[in-house]
Amino acid sequence: MKVEPMQVHSDREQRDLGDTPPEEFRRQLHALADWIADFRQNIDSLRVAPDHKPGAILANIPAQPPEQGEPFDKILSDVDRLIVPGMVHWSHPMFLAYFGWTTTAPGILGEIITAPLNVNAMTWRTSPAATELETLVIDWIRQWVHLPPEFGGVVYDTASVGVMHALAVAREEAAPSVRKRGLIGAGAPVFRIYASEQAHSSAEKAAIALGLGEENVQRVPTDAAFCMESSALRQIITRDLRDGFKPLAAIATVGTTSTASVDPVREIARICREFKLWLHIDGAYGAGFAILPECQSLTAGWSDADSIVVNPHKSLFVPLDFSVLYVRDLERLRRVFTLVPEYLRGDTVEAQKNYMDYGIQLGRRFRALKAWVIFRSFGRNGMAARLREHIRLANLFADWIRNDDRFELAAPVSMGVVCFRFIGDAAPSPRADTAARGRAGSSDSLDRINSDIVERINASGHAYLTQTKLRGRTVIRIGLGNVLTTEEHLRKVWELIQEVASQSERVNTD
Ligand SMILES: Cc1ncc(COP(=O)(O)O)c(C=O)c1O
Repeated sequence: MKVEPMQVHSDREQRDLGDTPPEEFRRQLHALADWIADFRQNIDSLRVAPDHKPGAILANIPAQPPEQGEPFDKILSDVDRLIVPGMVHWSHPMFLAYFGWTTTAPGILGEIITAPLNVNAMTWRTSPAATELETLVIDWIRQWVHLPPEFGGVVYDTASVGVMHALAVAREEAAPSVRKRGLIGAGAPVFRIYASEQAHSSAEKAAIALGLGEENVQRVPTDAAFCMESSALRQIITRDLRDGFKPLAAIATVGTTSTASVDPVREIARICREFKLWLHIDGAYGAGFAILPECQSLTAGWSDADSIVVNPHKSLFVPLDFSVLYVRDLERLRRVFTLVPEYLRGDTVEAQKNYMDYGIQLGRRFRALKAWVIFRSFGRNGMAARLREHIRLANLFADWIRNDDRFELAAPVSMGVVCFRFIGDAAPSPRADTAARGRAGSSDSLDRINSDIVERINASGHAYLTQTKLRGRTVIRIGLGNVLTTEEHLRKVWELIQEVASQSERVNTD
């Protein structure tokens, strides 16, 4: 290789080669601090969702990458002009979709502190404080949700990644040389995984990624409250054994995606023990509620699990992304994923723990810091008080539904989730899924109206809701979880729903 002679740079050129000068950076940071504080303070005045057509944002941004650097002020003004109006504002107090996302001031501060550190938490040596803080916050959450000390954990980005790793361990323990030789080389049987029909699709995604096959995730029927029927689980396992499949794992969900229903974990655990299945608990949403003494019944059967996933970014106020996979005896997870290439060997000695050994990711963000900031800022009491308020608001909203004959609850209220359905001017139907036949007409037209209500509200920019299907019928769903959502906001959303329902009924029945 030919080496060019060393260039001598002028002061000005030298400056351009490095970072922003310290005084300018300080000024930018102050401007950004004001920007963030203003954004939080004025978020109520923003549309929750944009009214843009797809592609409208790209159409306003130069397609050519910039040749010359641009000043930060100009970039920030473009954030105001293009990005903020082009967002669905998940932090908005009228955003009630999914699980009621939240942003908090300590969460933002935690993210800001993390940015300048910008470490790679792959091994203890490359990031001692990140590694030890991760171990600490994992154990704080473990204590809060009453998991026994034999559960150790690792922070991933999402619950989908968590269940994939858990099932990889289950697969390795059921067919010990898969890690080395692959499924075919190891002569592995056709494995089966069981999850309720209400469980999250991450079960199938994990089966796809692990070469187990999407169709080998068997969905188990649920009861009237959308909880897994354990007798049906037993029957399906028995049938699969008879048909030559190898039952591998069951997934019990604590807080399902649509209704936040809770599977009977203790009964499922008993069946897993009997048939020697791995028990994974998907507590992505619901497990966080176990920090409330009044919700401790949620934890029944957890100590019998092999793994459990908890998403503090869903219910414990930590900003996306932060998901913890706990495994009973974490060494089982390490055995499946540890692999140290030569260039990293030096940095794996004298380890407290090398988190790169507990998953497929090598490079890892310092996620524990933001969790530590949040947990210390709120304390368990502060988080519990906020969760209690979300439960109170969910039940208050459910009372409003019960008091309006044109609506009915479509599922029992669970944690911060309410599923309901517009049924029109009819006598209340005895069952949610049979829906009344009022002026609004058949169940199909009621489905259209319910979907239309959500679409119209979301398009209005005043609030944001979710629609889902329960027993084949379209229902409206709200999730309470945003610390900015007050009773006043909720009342406004309810009035909006009532008003839009009347309009939708007129349009869809005329
Ligand atoms: C019950 C449940 N499990 C798992 C997931 C997947 O979560 P993640 O986005 O963290 O992968 C979701 C997503 O909403 C969920 O509702």
